[in-house]
Amino acid sequence: MTGSVLTPYSQETGGSKARLAYRLFLRESFRTIRVTASVFPSSRFLTAAMLDHVDFRKTCTVAELGSGTGVMTREILRRMTPDSRLFALEINRNFVHHLRTSCQDRRLTVLHTDASNLADHLRAHDAGAIHAVISSLGLTGMKAEQRARIVLQVEACLAPNGIMTQFQYLTPLAPVPGLPNRQIPWFQERQFLETYFPNISAKRVLLNLPPAVVFTCRK
Ligand SMILES: C[S@@+](CC[C@H](N)C(=O)[O-])C[C@H]1O[C@@H](n2cnc3c(N)ncnc32)[C@H](O)[C@@H]1O
Repeated sequence: MTGSVLTPYSQETGGSKARLAYRLFLRESFRTIRVTASVFPSSRFLTAAMLDHVDFRKTCTVAELGSGTGVMTREILRRMTPDSRLFALEINRNFVHHLRTSCQDRRLTVLHTDASNLADHLRAHDAGAIHAVISSLGLTGMKAEQRARIVLQVEACLAPNGIMTQFQYLTPLAPVPGLPNRQIPWFQERQFLETYFPNISAKRVLLNLPPAVVFTCRK
């Protein structure tokens, strides 16, 4: 196939568009922090840790869950072969609009939807089996049924040997001396993912705001 392959965001559009994306992310996080789950887009270090285990040398189909302003989307496209496909699912319409207008690439399909509709959308687009799922969803803040519905579908859509990467911010609420009831039980994301994936590795990424741990889950 022929056609343009996207250049890195910073080279293609310059700093002013990157600043616009930061401002949009900040604004949306104040509006819906529970869904956005962060105040800043992911750093390039976190992006690399989320993508380094994916073999982009072969033609592949990738689903990105929670694409936000597209920092990971652009890096996935930069790494992908010209025949690969990327489905980016995002629930926030302002992020969807931003991504559709700022990141035009024939390999990319941006879907304005809840990630729990993943299987239906992939079927509708005749996507076939998925080689990798890159998820930035804030599973910690979700209801148990919602996160289970999403990860069950991911597991079902993945090809044999497919991988899912998912990060969790390292921000446990520390107990306050003298106030034991302030301590909130922290969602154990690794344990949760282990109920769906037999093989999980973890990597901490400190150069992100906030620092995070990346889980790479293999079928
Ligand atoms: C922590 S942000 C990550 C954004 C971007 N991937 C990044 O790394 O900067 C999480 C993103 O997931 C989106 N999101 C949250 N719940 C979602 C859901 N159920 N379905 C689809 N997207 C969702 C949010 O709107 C937000 O854009």
